[in-house]
Amino acid sequence: MIVVGSDHGGLELKEAIKKLLDERGMAIEDCGTDNGDSVDYPDFGIKVARKVSTGEAEKGILFCGTGIGMSIVANKFPHVRAALATDSFMARMSKEHNNANILVLGGRVLDEVTAREMVSAWLDASFEGGRHQGRLDKISALERELMK
Ligand code: RB5
Repeated sequence: MIVVGSDHGGLELKEAIKKLLDERGMAIEDCGTDNGDSVDYPDFGIKVARKVSTGEAEKGILFCGTGIGMSIVANKFPHVRAALATDSFMARMSKEHNNANILVLGGRVLDEVTAREMVSAWLDASFEGGRHQGRLDKISALERELMK
């Protein structure tokens, strides 16, 4: 299951990407927003990031105007590795090297075609492990230390 969420600035791109996820046969949970009214991105970023943080969802995609606000809020959560990407290379690398479990996209930054390519690149990529796992282990150790 993949969980998605956006504010008003990311809504249009979220709807476009939901079509791609549906084409790929993925089960989708949409945490909102569902209309163009102005909302606060943390309210929706928190819902998505909490599900990924607890393991209720394996992965998620967040959308706001730039992607910046959503990436800031999502990365507050333990076990969340949210990657703000602007092209397919970044999206692919965020999985291969960082094992990103949330991809963050800017609805006012990306066109639909680019965003579709990015999401496909991220979903099709695999974490390489090895030396990259050691680096993620250091981040996990920091999370544990900061939560004491
Ligand atoms: C909303 O206007 C905008 O600030 C939001 O979508 C996002 O870009 C924040 O980082």
